[in-house]
Amino acid sequence: MNRRQFLQTSAASALFVGMGGRRLLGAIGAGASDKSVPWVTLNNGVKMPRLGLGTMTLRGDLGVKCVAEAIGLGYRLIDTAMIYDNEVSVGEGIKQGGIKREELFITSKLWKADMGYENAKKGFQTSIDKLKVDYLDLYLIHRPFGGDWKGSWRAMEELYHQGKIKAIGMSNADLALMSDLISNFEVKPAVHQIETHAFFQEASAYDYLKQHGVQMEAWSPFAEGRHGLFANETLAAIAKKHGKSVAQVCLRWHYQRGIVVIPRSTQKAHIAENLNIFDFSLDDSDLASISSLDLNVTQFPEWT
Ligand SMILES: NC(=O)c1ccc[n+]([C@@H]2O[C@H](COP(=O)([O-])OP(=O)(O)OC[C@H]3O[C@@H](n4cnc5c(N)ncnc54)[C@H](OP(=O)(O)O)[C@@H]3O)[C@@H](O)[C@H]2O)c1
Repeated sequence: MNRRQFLQTSAASALFVGMGGRRLLGAIGAGASDKSVPWVTLNNGVKMPRLGLGTMTLRGDLGVKCVAEAIGLGYRLIDTAMIYDNEVSVGEGIKQGGIKREELFITSKLWKADMGYENAKKGFQTSIDKLKVDYLDLYLIHRPFGGDWKGSWRAMEELYHQGKIKAIGMSNADLALMSDLISNFEVKPAVHQIETHAFFQEASAYDYLKQHGVQMEAWSPFAEGRHGLFANETLAAIAKKHGKSVAQVCLRWHYQRGIVVIPRSTQKAHIAENLNIFDFSLDDSDLASISSLDLNVTQFPEWT
């Protein structure tokens, strides 16, 4: 039994916490510990960390460095995609991170150009070859509109049954497509990854996914800093009240709503800061204030 499995045993966990487990882990591990990131059980029984590293734009040596540092700090979920053109770097960062494959949760995504039954199988194989892994924990259809997403899904179902993908999911779909997918295919999506942040809270999708047992995952949890997110007065006041940063308040808000988050950063200090959200709680008035920030409009119109 490894340390995570040990901690997931409730009796052992209680004993460990009683022994001052957090401090003990701090002494054992470097920096923040993966033990502090809770995992959620998806609708097919697979477990997924509730916070991970986004890697869009983290290419080349920067990508290797950020991924390896994140793993060293305790990240276990790494989110990449074929279109980020960084799967080789992410794979190298994973190798340098020095953690056993089965303790990591690696996501990649099928790009539009690889849609359709045959192409999806090839796209998947290219991704795992670049990452130098023999399976993915999660594989998503990146942008389903305008392509043969149904053929892609059938290919992904087969790869799922072969054990080459532990969970399959969708990204950027509307609710009509999600409904079609949930109603008409053998394997239900485990995850839906969509733009979600304080300025675009996706209330309808949130309710729908919850109702259908599909895990919601937020991309751009900071809206990439757009619309002045890091300087927002409401978020800054909440951050000050809790002795935390605006980034941490945003991530904690997602976490308390049960949404998996994958913040990206090029800076080790930020990567560490973004993991440090499990020692405080937003109260009802904080949550109401953040709710009031919703503009219900994408901050990435160029992608729609
Ligand atoms: N499925 C999709 O279609 C889709 C689309 C977009 C993104 N994604 C995924 O979601 C991930 C996250 O989204 P994103 O990359 O668009 O942006 P994001 O995580 O919302 O924001 C990244 C920006 O926040 C800054 N930042 C990070 N931590 C910070 C902190 N603690 N304090 C201050 N600034 C901080 C980063 O700057 P520094 O580097 O200076 O820290 C960077 O400029 C992506 O990397 C990707 O994996 C998926």
